[in-house]
Amino acid sequence: MEENITENKTREIPAFLSWWQGGQRYVDNVADNGVKLNLPFEKNALYGDKIWEQLYPDIKIQYILGEEIFGNNKPLNLEIGIGNGEFIANMAVMKPEENYLGVEVFKKIFKLAEKRANKVEHGNIKIIQFDAALILRLMKDNSLNNVYVNFPDPWPKKKHKRRRLLKPDFMQLIASKLKKGGLMQIATDHDDYAEEINENIKEVKGIKSIYPSPYVRKVDDYFPTKYYRKFVNNEGAYFFRYEKI
Ligand SMILES: C[S@@+](CC[C@H](N)C(=O)[O-])C[C@H]1O[C@@H](n2cnc3c(N)ncnc32)[C@H](O)[C@@H]1O
Repeated sequence: MEENITENKTREIPAFLSWWQGGQRYVDNVADNGVKLNLPFEKNALYGDKIWEQLYPDIKIQYILGEEIFGNNKPLNLEIGIGNGEFIANMAVMKPEENYLGVEVFKKIFKLAEKRANKVEHGNIKIIQFDAALILRLMKDNSLNNVYVNFPDPWPKKKHKRRRLLKPDFMQLIASKLKKGGLMQIATDHDDYAEEINENIKEVKGIKSIYPSPYVRKVDDYFPTKYYRKFVNNEGAYFFRYEKI
């Protein structure tokens, strides 16, 4: 039986359910002739309830274009799970010649990111409080320069591991949205998750590590966020950087 869609309107989706409920449910129907989602950003931020209220069962949704969000054709980068927005806001300040779209499902932390994003003066950052799986699906294939996933929730308990975001299908989806030469950039401090990513990534077609090894433990161009400063020790994190070939 179809769930009553009105219940979804203002409900925040817990991150761990997002792939199944927010993502999977609506994502198979992305089409050029679909409904155009209205994206009423307030300054640089868009809250999920503004998207939920436009969704209904079996809706076909049109792709979202970078030009429509930013009003120009600058190279487009996506960060999934922006947390408090430190990384993406810094990138947007450092690279005014590129656009940065960030997605964070958790409303409370998104509010912090909103404050940060609104301080960036280059007009090249927009953030959306929604499930990244849906937003990623709505991006055109071969359209993104970089997709960043920084410190995804590790779900350390064995019984919760299936909630981890970086499954082969999800990474294949990321790969499909990258331009040729574009990068999927993943960072984690979690040994077991790194091992899983390393296994899962082998199943992803059309990408290759930019390093001679599957990952490196240190890079010299990562902007250390609060999360990084708190959890990464001298050994470094695990940085996976895979190029679309
Ligand atoms: C451990 S935090 C890391 C935050 C930030 N990237 C950093 O490095 O400080 C992971 C973040 O991903 C978000 N997240 C998890 N699943 C998500 C999804 N499907 N869509 C959007 N955000 C998600 C969580 O709410 C959380 O804020």
